[in-house]
Formats: sequence, structure tokens, C-alpha cells
Amino acid sequence: MADGDDEIWRDEAGLRDALIALVDFHVAAGVDLALDETPHDRFADEAARRAGEAAAREAASRDRLPLPPRTPAPAANAAPVSRGPAVPPGALDAEEAAASARALAEAAGDLAALEAALAGFDGCALKASAKSLVFADGTPGARVMIVGEAPGADEDRTGKPFVGRAGQLLDRMLAAIDLARTDVYIANVIPWRPPGNRTPTTQEVAACLPFTRRQIALADPDILVCMGAPATQTLLGVKDGILRARGRWLAYDTGRREIRALPMLHPAYLLRQPLQKRLAWRDLRALRKALRES
Ligand code: URA
Repeated sequence: MADGDDEIWRDEAGLRDALIALVDFHVAAGVDLALDETPHDRFADEAARRAGEAAAREAASRDRLPLPPRTPAPAANAAPVSRGPAVPPGALDAEEAAASARALAEAAGDLAALEAALAGFDGCALKASAKSLVFADGTPGARVMIVGEAPGADEDRTGKPFVGRAGQLLDRMLAAIDLARTDVYIANVIPWRPPGNRTPTTQEVAACLPFTRRQIALADPDILVCMGAPATQTLLGVKDGILRARGRWLAYDTGRREIRALPMLHPAYLLRQPLQKRLAWRDLRALRKALRES
């Protein structure tokens, strides 16, 4: 450091405090993960990709290609959609995003096609800041499908849902009722990590909802477990908080058939409130009983 630099850099403790304050600032701003060795402007990548797609769309409309059909929103179990933050320039607005999501999701004939459609979907701004699309883990077609909220840092790094501390607790919870990860199918209502693990906005959830519903329909489980309030409220239309809603069996219409749905406490909440594990244990026993009976 050159002579004449600020006083605070003179002593090592001052420099350390300043660096810690800078790291704290970044963490508070949501920059809590180093993804690359060198800086990489992902927003510029995204803007360039969007510009290319916009040009392709314009060319297609000049050639009078038909627009994707607009399909009605599912009436049952519909989640409320409210206004989210301002739409960044070049992004789809909420209505375009919902129309695009419905068309893409409905056109997907299997889970691989749905994952590919989601990867090409530009209606959720979280895609721009996330490293990975976190689509699913476990076994499609399993009798139990678990839906959580959104990926965290570990999930974003690995591309798999529920692999961090909450995921490890989920594995132990399943093991307690003799289920392995491969005995269930696991996904989230949002497949991209919100920066700094913030709660997804209602607009982000609404944009992804047609994909989540289609994923459930294509996975075709007998029982849907909604982990935490966001999954419970979004998929089951429940207004109550999760402490009231948990453990109550509800119905979920997949579009093909009605299945049973069980709201449960999210493992991330149980890590913070270990005493509540007794409630989770009650719900796990109810799940095991339902599996044995059906
Ligand atoms: N929490 C979730 O809801 N989903 C994950 O994938 C990880 C943590």
C-alpha cells in the first residue's frame, strides 16, 4: 500500500475491520457466493441472449409464424398473483410471462421436455442471477412428491434441490420413515436461487407456477408433500400460516386426478426451531400411515 494512504489502512486491525465491513456489505446485498475465478457479467450475457431472442421473434413475426396459443389459467388451486417489483428492461412483463409459461409448460409432454422448456423460459428474472436451473432430484413417478420453496447456495452450485443443511435434514426425516431420497421425487416452486436467499416475490412464483403444476402432473405422484408456507399457499391455495396448515390432509387436482396433499414444516425452519421437530415427526408418521394404507 502506497505512502499517504488513508490513516485506517496503517494499522492491520483497521484494514481487517474495513475488509470485514466490505464483505458484510456484499453479503447483505446478496453477493454471498463466488461463482468464478474471474469476474463475469451475467447480466450482460443475459441482455445479449434476450436481444438475440427478440430479433428472432421479430423475424418470425415478419414471416407470419403463429404465436403460441393463450390457454386459460387453471381454476382449481390457483395462487394469487400480485404485482412484484418493476420489470427490468427487455424482460417479459407479468402477463407475457404467464402466457409464455402456460404455453411452454402445456406443450411439454414429459419431464425432460419440461426441464428444457423451463431452461428456455425468460419470464422469471431470477434466472439471470442464478448459476443453475434446479429442476428435480429423486425418482420421477415415485409415490411421494416433495415440493419446497427455492434453491439455496448449495443447490445453485450443484443443480440439485435439497442438498444443503436443510436437504440433509430432509434425508434424515425421510429415513425415519424408511424412505430413501430415491423413493421420492423432489422439486421446488421456484427453480432458480433468489439472490441472498431472499423470499421469492409473488410475481416470480406466479411466473413459475405453470411449470410446477405441469411437473406435478407429469411426475404423477399419489401424495404431494408441500414443505413450508410458500409451497403450501401456492399449490394448495391455503391462506393459513404453516403452523396451522401443517398435518392437515388436503386435496390437490393434478389435472388428471385428485391426489392427497400434506403440508409440512420446512426442514430449514426445523433447523432454526428444533423443538418443532415433534410436529414434523407427527406428520411423517401420518405420511407413512397413508403410504401403507393406499
Ligand atoms: N430449501 C428449499 O425449499 N429448497 C431447496 O432446494 C433447498 C432449500
